Amino acid sequence: MSKKRLAVLASGRGSNFDSILEKTLAGYIPADIVLLITNNQKAGALKIAAKHAINAKVIIPGEFTNSAAFNDAILKALLASKVDFIILAGYLKLIGPNIVAQYENKILNIHPALLPSFGGKGMYGHHVHQAVYDCGVKVSGATVHLVNKDYDLGPIVMQRSVSIDNLKTPEDIAAHVLKIEHQIYPEAVKLLVENRLIVKQRRVEIKGV
Ligand code: GRF
Repeated sequence: MSKKRLAVLASGRGSNFDSILEKTLAGYIPADIVLLITNNQKAGALKIAAKHAINAKVIIPGEFTNSAAFNDAILKALLASKVDFIILAGYLKLIGPNIVAQYENKILNIHPALLPSFGGKGMYGHHVHQAVYDCGVKVSGATVHLVNKDYDLGPIVMQRSVSIDNLKTPEDIAAHVLKIEHQIYPEAVKLLVENRLIVKQRRVEIKGV
């Protein structure tokens, strides 16, 4: 069976991109990352792509007349690279309906909290950890979910929690959650690539478990 082809979409640092890349190179994820798309020309993810000679495209919304044209450019790049699955790794733009329709149940995202809490519009990056901190919850974690047209509401594939009981700042919470992200995202990508996710409305069951 030929290896599946992945695109990673990232807007920033790219540590999740890096952790998934490492697991493809090690053969744990039976796929190749063939394309990086970013909306930010300063994204750290671009450096990671360059280091590994991964084709990278900077596609900036401001260079298009509207969001439909922006998302058409992304879809064109995905199809040109014959991408099978899309991995969102700290990508801060909403994925267009054209892409969701073409890649139904083939797009994963990671959210740095336990959805459905602390998700939705405006809940990204440090805003999430600040909200978790302000709320005083004792447990946080990470959620990998399939992407559909509703923000942060796609079927949940995997979650892992971490105690944040003794942590004193949102930054500490972010660091603890990030460690978990780097564990579960490669695990979830592997399941997706191996076609082991069975989606039943909001629920995802895993074949062979
Ligand atoms: C991660 O916390 C991820 O959950 C969120 O954005 C952050 C991206 O970090 N969606 P990185 O760019 O992967 O280091």
